[in-house]
Amino acid sequence: MAPLVSGFMLAVLFSASAKVITSSDQMCMEKEANKTYNCENLGLREIPDTLPTTTEFLEFAFNFLPTIQTTTFSRLIYLTFLDLTRCQINWIHEDTFESHHQLNTIVLTGNPLIFMAETSLNGPKSLKHLFLIQTGISDLEFIPMHNLENLESLYLGGNHISSIKLPENFSARNLKVLDFQNNAIHYLSNKDMNALEQATNLSLNFNGNDIKSIETGAFHSKVFQSLNFGGIFDLSIVMKGLQNSTTQSLWLGAYEDTEDQDLTPAMLEGLCELSVESINLQKHHFSDLSSTTFRCFTRLRELDLTAAHLKELPSGIEGMNSLKKLVLSMNNFDQLCQINAASFPSLTDLYIKGNMKKLDLGAGCLEKLQNLRRLDLSHSKIEASECCNLALRNLDHLQYLNLSYNMPIGLQSQAFKECPKLELLDLAFTHLRISAPQTPFQDLHLLQTLNLSHCHVDTSNQHLLEGLPDLRHLNLHGNSFQDGSISKINLLQTVGSLETLILSFCELLSIDQQAFHSLGKMSHIDLSHNNLTGNSIDALSHLKGIYLNLAANSISIIPPHLLPILSQQSTINLSHNPLDCTCSNFYFITWYKENPQKLEGSEETVCANPSSLKGVKLSEVKLSCGITALGIFFLVVFLLLFTILFIFSVKFIFRWKYQHI
Ligand SMILES: *[C@@H]1O[C@H](CO)[C@@H](O)[C@H](O)[C@H]1NC(C)=O
Ligand SMILES: *[C@@H]1O[C@H](CO)[C@@H](O)[C@H](O)[C@H]1NC(C)=O
Ligand SMILES: *[C@@H]1O[C@H](CO)[C@@H](O)[C@H](O)[C@H]1NC(C)=O
Ligand SMILES: *[C@@H]1O[C@H](CO)[C@@H](O)[C@H](O)[C@H]1NC(C)=O
Ligand SMILES: *[C@@H]1O[C@H](CO)[C@@H](O)[C@H](O)[C@H]1NC(C)=O
Ligand SMILES: *[C@@H]1O[C@H](CO)[C@@H](O)[C@H](O)[C@H]1NC(C)=O
Ligand SMILES: *[C@@H]1O[C@H](CO)[C@@H](O)[C@H](O)[C@H]1NC(C)=O
Ligand SMILES: *[C@@H]1O[C@H](CO)[C@@H](O)[C@H](O)[C@H]1NC(C)=O
Repeated sequence: MAPLVSGFMLAVLFSASAKVITSSDQMCMEKEANKTYNCENLGLREIPDTLPTTTEFLEFAFNFLPTIQTTTFSRLIYLTFLDLTRCQINWIHEDTFESHHQLNTIVLTGNPLIFMAETSLNGPKSLKHLFLIQTGISDLEFIPMHNLENLESLYLGGNHISSIKLPENFSARNLKVLDFQNNAIHYLSNKDMNALEQATNLSLNFNGNDIKSIETGAFHSKVFQSLNFGGIFDLSIVMKGLQNSTTQSLWLGAYEDTEDQDLTPAMLEGLCELSVESINLQKHHFSDLSSTTFRCFTRLRELDLTAAHLKELPSGIEGMNSLKKLVLSMNNFDQLCQINAASFPSLTDLYIKGNMKKLDLGAGCLEKLQNLRRLDLSHSKIEASECCNLALRNLDHLQYLNLSYNMPIGLQSQAFKECPKLELLDLAFTHLRISAPQTPFQDLHLLQTLNLSHCHVDTSNQHLLEGLPDLRHLNLHGNSFQDGSISKINLLQTVGSLETLILSFCELLSIDQQAFHSLGKMSHIDLSHNNLTGNSIDALSHLKGIYLNLAANSISIIPPHLLPILSQQSTINLSHNPLDCTCSNFYFITWYKENPQKLEGSEETVCANPSSLKGVKLSEVKLSCGITALGIFFLVVFLLLFTILFIFSVKFIFRWKYQHI
């Protein structure tokens, strides 16, 4: 009876009063004080006076500025970046940017430009990046470019340009990117190409132009960083046109919705006459696929054949000793041996992601790839009852292995013995079959990252992570623990070198106070999306300076004795918890308001209780937990009653005693 009464009294005595500070500023968002502002999509018709003159980065897309002129931006002379995407700009008048000497980037994408004055871009002498995508331009003469000596990138995609003839006195000296994708360019002449001769290391993009012919010699002895002729109908036009040129990368991919001719060995002959390091032929169909198809590929370092409708690669391909990276993703292999890996003995990177059919790993299909460092077999419908030593035979240099998003895979002890140099192993979303005492990762001395998220691993197997002395990043997202609890003795005890631990979505209800005691090097723990209460924080008492994510748990009250544990961490995310904003949580709320620099996600860190404060940000709650006038009244009444009761009981006891003498 007594505790009930005193509990009632306490509740009466300490009545909470709360206040909310609201701000309803619908104006531009400040991203960095006095410097970076976002005013996107606010229906603005002018530059707001509230923006300081010191503004340097201004995102102003999706507003309404049909004409821009000298006065429009005259106050903001320190602008370096200006995004005016889709502001319905038609007219850009004389000297619009005359005082903007520091302006580096102008984005005019998606404005239906009718007129740009000859002097409109005269001010920004250091303009480096100009975006004129989807502006309705049909002729490059439209752009007042004669002053743009420092221009590094010019984006002209999605226009109606038919000739790449640049204005007479435009200097391409510093140009690095010239992007003409999705225009109406059908012909490239020697003269047009010569205007670009000054540019070194240029990336030139003709993707989505229906190029029908290239004048012989147009690219002769020119050097490029990259060339893109994606979506072209007849690849042999490009092959002939590029004779004697040099490019780091050549993108010749096809698209599903555009028609193109099947690639024959003859069409690829032209590759012998140019110097390319990396080529992309994605989505093409090959006819007469044989070793001659690859005759002119011998100097390549990278080859991308993504979604090239391949069932196998021909045997007998010769001379591909330079190839380091091969991408065979989204093809139709049945078995890994069908890629005839032995033809590419120097490979360091092999990607077979998203294979369309169920891929059988076979035995030793990659054993000739002794330099292989990275192997990506994710999303390839791989199913294996006993993985992976047979499949990965002889890959002693493998550092990166991605087997995520596959079908169930069974792992025995030391399942990766053939790849002792593995540094990263990603098994996410692949259901692993590991029977209890097995230690599949044993002896991976260099393994630093292990992703076991959604692997259905048996977390009660304490030996699961044995033999990983250097493991730093462990992802256990989406696995569950027995009874929703991480007990004192658990699988993390063997991985003392961990720095990052992800235990989100693990249906955790509690963590033993000693559960993490062997983890002393931790710097990042994600415990979000569980059902933990405030008491679980006790398990972190020995850790300092960590990033701690406790978002979306069941934390309502954090007792005062646990606050020092939070104080010693660097960043804490407590968003989406049912936090209690009554006086019973007074110490935590006070702590919260004193440590805003430690907290992230404070917009979503809100009260759940009492109902009058539901949804109010914790940082805006004002608790006054003291004795109020009403409280004093009740206290006095209580004391009075208590005294009377006391006197009566004393009297009663005395009387009783005397009666029994
Ligand atoms: C921003 O400008 C105001 C007024 O000029 C100044 O008081 C403040 O210190 C500036 N803030 C920063 C972060 O530079
Ligand atoms: C570039 O051409 C424009 C018009 O054709 C001319 O007014 C300007 O003086 C020329 N500039 C240079 C540097 O030759
Ligand atoms: C050429 O450009 C690429 C990317 O555009 C860059 O990574 C590379 O360093 C540049 N090379 C030289 C020599 O400037
Ligand atoms: C390519 O170079 C060779 C040898 O220098 C020359 O004979 C040939 O005419 C050149 N081809 C083109 C299209 O310029
Ligand atoms: C492994 O592949 C998946 C799917 O392709 C990808 O999302 C993931 O980032 C890859 N893992 C690593 C470590 O790169
Ligand atoms: C697995 O975790 C690693 C490291 O945290 C990450 O890079 C990778 O993208 C994750 N894989 C998937 C499929 O999400
Ligand atoms: C954990 O929390 C979720 C969402 O709050 C809830 O649906 C689920 O029932 C809880 N699980 C347990 C075991 O309490
Ligand atoms: C806090 O954590 C939640 C859940 O992981 C995440 O969605 C959110 O972005 C985080 N907040 C910040 C500011 O990073």
